[in-house]
Amino acid sequence: MSREAADNTDGPLRPRRSGPLRGICCVPGDKSISHRALLFGALTDGVVEITGLGVGGDNVSTARALAALGVPVSLDGANARVMGVGISGLRQAAESLDCGNSGTTIRLMSGLLAGQPFVSTLYGDASLTRRPMGRLARPLREMGATIEGRGDPSRPNDIFPPLQVRGGNLHGIRYNLPVASAQLKSALVLAGLFAKGTTEITEPGLSRDHTERMLRHLGAPLHADPARRSVRVEPDGWNGRLRAGPLQVPGDISSGAFMMVAALLVPGSDVTIENLGLNPTRTGVIDALRAMGAELEVQITGDAMGEPVGTVRARASALKGARIAGDLALRSIDEIPILAVAAAMAEGPSQFSDLHELRIKESDRIASIGRELSRAGVAVADAPDGFTVEGAGANRRVKGGRAQADHDHRIAMAAAILGLCGEEETEVPTEDIGTSFPTFARTLRALGASL
Ligand code: S3P
Repeated sequence: MSREAADNTDGPLRPRRSGPLRGICCVPGDKSISHRALLFGALTDGVVEITGLGVGGDNVSTARALAALGVPVSLDGANARVMGVGISGLRQAAESLDCGNSGTTIRLMSGLLAGQPFVSTLYGDASLTRRPMGRLARPLREMGATIEGRGDPSRPNDIFPPLQVRGGNLHGIRYNLPVASAQLKSALVLAGLFAKGTTEITEPGLSRDHTERMLRHLGAPLHADPARRSVRVEPDGWNGRLRAGPLQVPGDISSGAFMMVAALLVPGSDVTIENLGLNPTRTGVIDALRAMGAELEVQITGDAMGEPVGTVRARASALKGARIAGDLALRSIDEIPILAVAAAMAEGPSQFSDLHELRIKESDRIASIGRELSRAGVAVADAPDGFTVEGAGANRRVKGGRAQADHDHRIAMAAAILGLCGEEETEVPTEDIGTSFPTFARTLRALGASL
């Protein structure tokens, strides 16, 4: 089980103005759904064959942590085989669990481990070590778990990794999440499966609902009420079994978004992305790009485990500025870096707000986006919860130079797509791209991009 490096291992990418991008492509399996397929597969009562698994480092972190907890997992590219150990079959790990760069791994794993009658320690890389865990620890403690983390005198009300989770003997709670977050919601759902009594979680906005869809598919006692933005777990009276079976992961719309924007911005392009997950809690990027005037054709072609799957065709389009806020911001939370690039090449200003959460992703994305757009000569003004981009249209002069990725895969890939519009060459570090999209450069080159 190796953490795959980005396919461009011979140094940085060097994007520059490209000829048209044309053709059909696929992107790796959805990172969020892949984490869940591995984690929930581990709790089933038999063999789970996963196809289309995300091949990035984050998903490997989840697979490794499960293996350390006694779950037989084998990875073979986009195929995985998980021998489910049942709902009570996890064993205390001999070592601390390395969650790498992955916020989803540490948070979902903490929820799962809060339900186990043993002690676990979870840690990660420098970026993960800076991400706040107090909002996760508070409800898990309320359910009966003991969670300890590293303190930071400058933020006395929070804790940070490494985390120590002492689980077992949980009881259900009713909890209103302070922010819409699928990682928090999913952690509490997992803990709720091991609790006495009902757990009900309500969020201020509807975050991605892959956990709800997949756990229902596997037979968990879970009721989702999207209209009330709440989910209820009722383990009392449940037979404690999740049904093993094949799981198919669709392509990651968050990776597909880079291909869409590349096609929209490079004159003459026409790109079709196949087998893409099109869950409505994730399609904000399509709605945002359409609001900017993008020519995007979307076709739903099927369904995988309750997740709509389809095709998106993107053709070069003249974009105009737009406002990305509220529910649209939540539904495109991971695509804001690439939407900011689209905004830079649109006519007129774009305003991005309600994005406090971007400050605590793999990097402070508001700061990273601002710095990278400024480097390229794009005027951008920061706000505490977002930023404004001064779009200057498709003919604007994009400067080259050396991009910095801040150990954030999406910042590196957004800088590379902006570089495709540049008159000068941009140098983009590749070492973080493998977190979610190791085949990024290869896929773009096959479509005709110069990088
Ligand atoms: C994810 C949820 C989102 C998202 C992250 C993946 C998930 O984070 O930004 O990349 O798989 O549940 P939050 O839950 O913190 O909003």
